[in-house]
Amino acid sequence: MKALILSGGKGTRLRPLTYTGAKQLVPVANKPILWYGIEAIVAAGITEIGIIISPETGEEIKTQTGNGERFGAKITYILQDSPDGLAHAVKIAQPFLGDSPFLMYLGDNLIQSDLNSFLEEFRSKKLDSLILLCAVPNPSAFGVAKVDEGGRVLQLVEKPKVPPSNLALVGIYFFDRAIHEAISNIQPSARGELEITDAIQYLIDREKQVTARQLEGWWLDTGKKDDLLEANRIILDTRLELSVEGEVDEKSQIIGRVKIGAGSRIVNCSIRGPVVIGRECHLENCFIGPYSSIADRATLIDVDLEHSVILQAARITGIEQRIVDSAIGQRAQLKAASQRPKALRFLIGDDSQIELC
Ligand code: DAU
Repeated sequence: MKALILSGGKGTRLRPLTYTGAKQLVPVANKPILWYGIEAIVAAGITEIGIIISPETGEEIKTQTGNGERFGAKITYILQDSPDGLAHAVKIAQPFLGDSPFLMYLGDNLIQSDLNSFLEEFRSKKLDSLILLCAVPNPSAFGVAKVDEGGRVLQLVEKPKVPPSNLALVGIYFFDRAIHEAISNIQPSARGELEITDAIQYLIDREKQVTARQLEGWWLDTGKKDDLLEANRIILDTRLELSVEGEVDEKSQIIGRVKIGAGSRIVNCSIRGPVVIGRECHLENCFIGPYSSIADRATLIDVDLEHSVILQAARITGIEQRIVDSAIGQRAQLKAASQRPKALRFLIGDDSQIELC
């Protein structure tokens, strides 16, 4: 069994955070989203992993993720020249996949449950495909499945205007080699992509063994800011362990589960967990409230922050109002003006969103 992780694509929905980097590397609780997927795959016993990358962000993914050694896996990178669809990614990965059954994992998806029981069902029932479904309030944003009472999949549609059910396709799929023939027989969709939903539909129409399992526990597709904050909240809530490697002065107060990385300095701060602070950060005169993740080398001085994600080397100083529900990009600077007249002064990148009151 092999695994194929899709980490190409454009990442338009997380802009501006993804103008300069891959969306799969945006950190959740200070760890790239992609790495949670790799860890889950290795935990299911699959160590031969192909990762689809794009020309724009592939090098960054390779440099940060490496050859797989740190995960106990062997990673092969596969370049997809343009984001021509999930099924197109499988097509170009054929030399890597060969005739092996494989698990396909979308690099921006996170699920609570482990993959073992799904893998077991896929293997023991000798299925052509096992797909995972999750009931959602907004099915039009996803691939949607219509299933009969026995869980048999009748129809799959990609982002339908009128969804046939509220069951979204989770970005984790199990396939045997029959999927390759299906892919070679489908045409690009109206949006110009080779859709994996069409390839699975091809299998269903030919009465191949396609089964759906409904997911228990949470599922997050970290495509947008609110999803990212929610993923951050859940991971901090469920997986964060207390550990303080940095330096905390005696005037600071740490309450609850807080992780502080090596080389960080915390001066006169009140930190209420769950909170994760990376390495070599400087925090002074701050209140850091629950569900905040602050990445390496960030500086926060005279700031109140809660339920937010701050990326590497961001610098926030002297902000009077509490910052909440925010995602602040790498090296971004937010500061109180020192000169008069008192006014707001901005240098804001494309697609940024700012709410003032
Ligand atoms: O998250 C679940 C949804 O993922 C499913 O419900 C949909 O059926 C499925 O099409 C997919 O929809 P998205 O709109 O979320 O797909 P997105 O374009 O965000 O791509 C998902 C991942 O695959 C992302 O990590 C980028 C990568 N990708 C995407 C394309 C189109 C590639 O590596 N190559 C590609 O050509």
